[in-house]
Amino acid sequence: MRIFSGIQPSGDLHIGNYLGAIKQWIDLQHKNECIFCIVDLHAITAPYDKENLSKHILEQTGSYIAAGLNPEKVIIFVQSSVKEHAELYWLLNTVTPLGELYRMTQFKEKVKKYKKNENAGLLNYPILQAADILLYDTQAVPVGEDQKQHIELARDIARIFNRKFGETFVLPKVKLPSHGARIMSLTEPTKKMSKSDGEESYISLFDSPEKIKKKIKSATTDTGKEIKYDIKKKPGISNLLTIYSLFSEKPIEELEKEMKEKSYKAFKEELTSLLTEKLESFRRKKEEFSSRKVYIEEILKQGEKKARTLAEEKMAEVKRKMGLQ
Ligand code: TYM
Repeated sequence: MRIFSGIQPSGDLHIGNYLGAIKQWIDLQHKNECIFCIVDLHAITAPYDKENLSKHILEQTGSYIAAGLNPEKVIIFVQSSVKEHAELYWLLNTVTPLGELYRMTQFKEKVKKYKKNENAGLLNYPILQAADILLYDTQAVPVGEDQKQHIELARDIARIFNRKFGETFVLPKVKLPSHGARIMSLTEPTKKMSKSDGEESYISLFDSPEKIKKKIKSATTDTGKEIKYDIKKKPGISNLLTIYSLFSEKPIEELEKEMKEKSYKAFKEELTSLLTEKLESFRRKKEEFSSRKVYIEEILKQGEKKARTLAEEKMAEVKRKMGLQ
């Protein structure tokens, strides 16, 4: 299967990115043709740090490899380095119903969040995402739950285009993990974990043991004493149980039994030890790659070359179908 997915280079990756998306990528890379993108053109729709963008791109590439992607097997590249993404984006604009864009949950959230930066890119964001996906005849898109609506829109855009101009695009399917598709914030467990909500709200894949300890210790819990999964009444404990379950590979029911007699404090201490142990190798490998800039740049160069070959061919077909030169 052809697989495509991407993450914005907006700083460190957190355990939500890992459990929702990257863990799936690592499993999929063995038996599929995988393309993983660093979506810098998406990242610039929100306020960003111009001086550090290229540094974040290199760090993110190193993080992909540190997390377990094999650059010999998969294509890793930067979105803006293959201009066909922006080109196809424009063409798809002309077939995308405006009403669909206004309906997108992330658009509504971001307009509220970035009141001073209400740019058209926030509205058109999912069209660029559709271009990313459709450009490579992608069959499946492994993402977290928050991206489901965008992938469904990409599918609709492909359908509309095919109807209008003839069979051109593969209809992509969203691929969610069976568990961990929506990891919640540590400080506000009714909201999803997000890089933009402050450092205390998420655990980075590369946090030091001290930071992990501090963040888990101050994670919001619920009233009562019981360690029990109940998303409505106990969103904080339920989120921590989900994280524990995914990193320990033990079912939640088993954990509930194990933790029956334990206090929130003891449970949090065990979770801290588990995360410290599981994230240790990410941290070590990331340090290793941070000193190998030339190697990382070469991976991106190779990825760009391979992605461009595929993208140029598809663009030529799309333009032909649309009657363009
Ligand atoms: P981004 O950069 O916000 O997130 C990257 C990936 O991480 C997942 N994710 C989560 N999963 C579970 N729990 C969470 N709390 C959590 N937070 C984030 C996201 O679902 C995503 O899979 N628009 C995309 C990037 C993109 C893309 C694409 C994805 C651009 N083009 C083409 C797939 C295909 C985004 O902003 O992801």
